Amino acid sequence: MPVDIADIQQLVDAQEHWRGRQTINLIASENPQSPAVRALQNSDFMARYAEGHPNRGDEVRRYYQGTRYIDQIETMAREELLALTRCRQADVRPISGNAANTALALGYLRGGDTVIVNSTPAGGHISHNTIGVFGRRIQTRGLSLNLEAPRAIPLHYFPLAEDLYHIDVPKSLDLIAQTKPRLLVLGKSLILFPEPVQALAPLCRELGIPLLYDAAHVFGLIVGGQFQDPWREGATWVTASTHKTFPGPQRGVILADLDEEQERQYWPSADRGVFPGSSSNHHLHTLPALVVAIREMRQHATAYAAQIVRNAQTLGRALDDEGIGVEARDFGYTASHQLAVNVAAYGGGVAVAQRLEANDIIVNYNLLPWDTEPRRPSGLRLGVQEMTRYGMREDEMQRLAGLVSDAIKGKDVREAIHALRASCRTLHYV
Ligand SMILES: Cc1ncc(COP(=O)(O)O)c(C=O)c1O
Repeated sequence: MPVDIADIQQLVDAQEHWRGRQTINLIASENPQSPAVRALQNSDFMARYAEGHPNRGDEVRRYYQGTRYIDQIETMAREELLALTRCRQADVRPISGNAANTALALGYLRGGDTVIVNSTPAGGHISHNTIGVFGRRIQTRGLSLNLEAPRAIPLHYFPLAEDLYHIDVPKSLDLIAQTKPRLLVLGKSLILFPEPVQALAPLCRELGIPLLYDAAHVFGLIVGGQFQDPWREGATWVTASTHKTFPGPQRGVILADLDEEQERQYWPSADRGVFPGSSSNHHLHTLPALVVAIREMRQHATAYAAQIVRNAQTLGRALDDEGIGVEARDFGYTASHQLAVNVAAYGGGVAVAQRLEANDIIVNYNLLPWDTEPRRPSGLRLGVQEMTRYGMREDEMQRLAGLVSDAIKGKDVREAIHALRASCRTLHYV
């Protein structure tokens, strides 16, 4: 007799209804998948194994038999992604952005190496930081992960400009010259503005320091010609999630555009770091779905990415007009899909995020650059990519700003939120 799944099914159905149809979703790292991307994940590939690289003719590069169709799909994913990004090297096997970062940390760094990263309050991802994979990888016995300790790991933070949302380039150049790090890690989780890749790359090249750009959040924008072009600006490797602004299945990628000499120098770290470093079998059922998402982006990325940025800027201005403290006003609030909102005056990030959830507006609380207590963030991070995919444009952003502002101030707007969401249920750009 089959096992009883009624209670499990009920939870799945409740999730589909609530987060899939009822709530306004403003989590900056999420995105709904198109029907084709969803459908193609349910196949025999989910039961299979394929370590190594696709076999090539008679050359055996897999560690398993039975991979002929997996090999074709993985090759398609790699080649179509290279064409989409105009890159020369790609690894599509990391199972997430974190696994892609871990691959490079394992492949390129050793204990005692020096790295420069964005701090967590400045928006850096926890994986870049002391307790994340980069911090732990450079740790040697006896060195503390606490940077205040007398013998701490050699991890440094990029100095920030006065506005706290941009890196201070002259000070960073000094820090690089002084510390001669083994690696720079740019890109972050709270990312409003492009990173100064172009300004830092010449010194890095001169000193032989590679630059890793973590595009986990902004990969879809970059593919759509927005934000920045990290490869052509001088990044050595770009890691990304394929499911944040890039609307694919939950996976990761490493991409580079290196000439032959640089490829020999830097690509083996990525290749060996992925396997047998951070991934072995790599969730093969999501690979066909990745190819679908690549094709959707080939067709729609330009319009999609431009609308995202317009929506984020519109929401920022409208919230600011409502008296809600949107950060980086002097810079137009944002050049990405995200906004940083200061809600310290309304009870702080945690309380306000809960208040919004009670109104079916889903956001995450976030540290702002001056916050010192990880458990007491002043801010919210909002992302508009998902609602843009559901067809929201500037008018809907104006309406949404009024409702978010009312909810932050304590009004019950749940019904109005449901009505707004009901008018935006069709997925666009697919
Ligand atoms: C900058 C950055 N890098 C890496 C990651 C991890 O990506 P994933 O969730 O795909 O492992 C995140 C997650 O949000 C992120 O913000």
